[in-house]
Amino acid sequence: MEPNEIIDKTIKYVRDTLEGEGSGHDWWHVYRVWKTAHVIGEKEGADLVIVELAALLHDIADWKFHEGDEDIGPKTAEKWLTGLNLEQETIAHITGIIKNISFKGAGVADHMDSLEGKVVQDADRLDAIGAIGIARCFAYGGYTHREIYNPDKKPELHENKEKYKNSDSPSINHFYEKLLLLKDRMNTKTAVEMANERHQFMEQFLEHFYLEWDAEV
Ligand code: NI
Repeated sequence: MEPNEIIDKTIKYVRDTLEGEGSGHDWWHVYRVWKTAHVIGEKEGADLVIVELAALLHDIADWKFHEGDEDIGPKTAEKWLTGLNLEQETIAHITGIIKNISFKGAGVADHMDSLEGKVVQDADRLDAIGAIGIARCFAYGGYTHREIYNPDKKPELHENKEKYKNSDSPSINHFYEKLLLLKDRMNTKTAVEMANERHQFMEQFLEHFYLEWDAEV
């Protein structure tokens, strides 16, 4: 099968699987990560077929929604890629990226070795910040019945994955627990540049949010 055909089939599979998902990990999230990963991958000189397939499949079965089974994503991707007759080495590379892509807490280190993995992780993180990141943060907060903001609840920096996963902190806290930290967790130079602008926009948003909260504007 030609690379183009493999990508097209994978687009259709992912779209059919994730369309209409309501937590912010829907098809259009994957679409943006795929596009962004392509832009970064091209500039950074990564293998674009690996980048595109990993980006398309990275949220195919997110562990946050499968009662903590962290292997469900890589396993689902592996099954799909095996059906496309890809080489074992390519499949292992892509499933390895999917396994290591998630942010698991402010104090938990990343493990992403390959350039392709770094590119896809950067693209996924860029979609969590800026204007789109703000929209997704509150969509996810509503989906998990969180408050928008509660001045009595202070942000926490989670030192392990369990605490991060089980947190029920308000959506605004999520900025301090994850979103504002992502700028400094980008792997590639291209993504650092993109992240700076999106980061500034979130800071402006927060500034205005607190002014409105106190009826100062
Ligand atoms: Ni994602």
